[in-house]
Amino acid sequence: MNEIKNPFQGRSLLAMKDFTADEINYLVDFGEHLKYMKKHGIPHHYLEGKNIALLFEKTSTRTRSSFVVASHDLGASAEFMSPADMQLGNKESIEDTAIVLGNFFDGIEYRGFAQADVEELADKAGVPVWNGLSDKWHPTQMIADFMTIKEKFGHLKGIDLTYVGDGRNNMANSLLVAGSIVGINVRLLTPKSLFPADDVVELAKKACEKSGAKFTITDDLEEGVKGTNVIYGDVWVSMGENNWADRIKLLKPYQINMDMFKLAGMPDDEIIFMDCLPAFHDTNTKYGKEMKEKYGLDEMEVTDEVFRSKYAWQFEEAENRMHSIKAIMAATLGDLFIPTVHADYEK
Ligand code: CP
Ligand code: NVA
Repeated sequence: MNEIKNPFQGRSLLAMKDFTADEINYLVDFGEHLKYMKKHGIPHHYLEGKNIALLFEKTSTRTRSSFVVASHDLGASAEFMSPADMQLGNKESIEDTAIVLGNFFDGIEYRGFAQADVEELADKAGVPVWNGLSDKWHPTQMIADFMTIKEKFGHLKGIDLTYVGDGRNNMANSLLVAGSIVGINVRLLTPKSLFPADDVVELAKKACEKSGAKFTITDDLEEGVKGTNVIYGDVWVSMGENNWADRIKLLKPYQINMDMFKLAGMPDDEIIFMDCLPAFHDTNTKYGKEMKEKYGLDEMEVTDEVFRSKYAWQFEEAENRMHSIKAIMAATLGDLFIPTVHADYEK
């Protein structure tokens, strides 16, 4: 056992608003430490013998794979369940499911719809629950994103990040609040009708008062991107929605393209593109083809040119999902806490 108690042990991760800047920075650095260990073939079976449940009510490539690989690397076993495999929501309530699974598993990942659902699961399960995305927040994505920004720029505080697109979705909410907590100056570039909800803005305000960061919510392209370090994209229509025509009309002027990078006016090595993925940047998908047929679009939220450009960091970011999710699981389930984690992986 460590002399210093692990402050994460037994905690759920439901939204980044529940974590301090120091705690978020620790998870970022612990993710980097675990990435270092994996790259150097150093075993890290911190969760030997633990059982993990992965509940997905929506599809996933990165989050699901991250939890599976991270579990294996940590010595734990992971079991995946989709709506086709379980009673949840159909024959059995969240409360009953939580009680049953909490008695079987040491930790539960849940990707669902309403934030209230993952909160109820956490409340009743008696074991840590990790929010693998709800309609309101996408907290595990934040640790991967901050790892990526830190890898590129060496720090988080003072970085300017512009999220472009649907300003009311889980990614916009998460970047605005989590970024404000750690001192990133977040800008949401989005049409007025998609400005974020008041409670989210209020959380960002409070976070900025503490961190000294400044946030901006604007529909003006120049105000949104001038001098920014990160241009961040996400799908125009999130999982569970189907309002393509409306969103294309609203968001087409906000497509991330090379003109937007020019408008930012930054030296090449001081600006990057990030995206939580998936992204519609060509017509090589079923939806991509459908958008081409229906609306004549070859690309949507980001052009293929930007996606394949020297600015593109989305695949480094996607890899960091796995290292960061490993950090989140190990911190909340294990007893390991390394106060010097930052210095530790940089050695
Ligand atoms: N970014 C992200 O959450 O990807 P998946 O939907 O593939 O998990
Ligand atoms: N806003 C997107 C994020 C996907 C990772 C969605 O909810 O579909």
